[in-house]
Amino acid sequence: MPIKVVVAKDAKEMSKKAAAVIAEVVRKRPHCVLGFATGSTPEGTYAELARMNKEEGLSFARVTTFNLDEYLGLDGDHDQSYRYFMNKNLFEKIDIRLWNTFVPLGVAADPGVGCIAYEQYIKAAGGVDLWLLGIGNNGHIAFNEPGSAPDSRTRIVALDKSTIEANSRFFKSADEVPRYALSAGIGTIKEARKIVLLASGPKKANAVKAAVEGPVTIECPASLLQDHPDTTFIVDAEAASKLSGEK
Ligand code: F6R
Repeated sequence: MPIKVVVAKDAKEMSKKAAAVIAEVVRKRPHCVLGFATGSTPEGTYAELARMNKEEGLSFARVTTFNLDEYLGLDGDHDQSYRYFMNKNLFEKIDIRLWNTFVPLGVAADPGVGCIAYEQYIKAAGGVDLWLLGIGNNGHIAFNEPGSAPDSRTRIVALDKSTIEANSRFFKSADEVPRYALSAGIGTIKEARKIVLLASGPKKANAVKAAVEGPVTIECPASLLQDHPDTTFIVDAEAASKLSGEK
């Protein structure tokens, strides 16, 4: 199935559309399994889900979640860890049970073994119903940088120079950005029954075009979603600006 593309006028509309798709899955299957991403792009979606939880009674009490990735060496209480991000931006604002939320462990006796266990947890939960993704300027999904294997699983990965630079905006300097992360693999992500990828802003336009209209290649990890049976990109007008196909 080719990737479906929904173009929203701006980041706010993108976030509302994404939250509506997630809410539909939760309403149909209250005990569903959701996959989440961190970064700037999904923040508005999480805010909207928190609003729906508070004002519309959308309950996450029976939902289980898995996050894509975590920096190696950052503990969950580090303010740049992805566990911290999820707790602050979403989990503390909704009625989810924290013990049903999984983020790879950045600090563990053996983080490599933790990656294998993470795959087992996902399987034991029955697989992911919907995985929400962002996209890197270089086309990465989670921390699967260009060159990642299409059948890769959760593992320790080295971050690209461009990703370290892009993420240095959250740290005091690029030197402080961890060089390694734990990341769900492309094979892990593609087992999700439904995938929704968000992109906003002009910096993402090239990556979105390569992913949707370019060849399927490990040079653009998001292009590997082209043969997934149910993937939708929800992008704002700026991120869609280089697409040539029907929008
Ligand atoms: C983080 C993740 C990354 C980001 C990507 C875009 O969990 O999966 O692939 O989605 O780096 O980040 P933002 O949204 O900050 O541009």
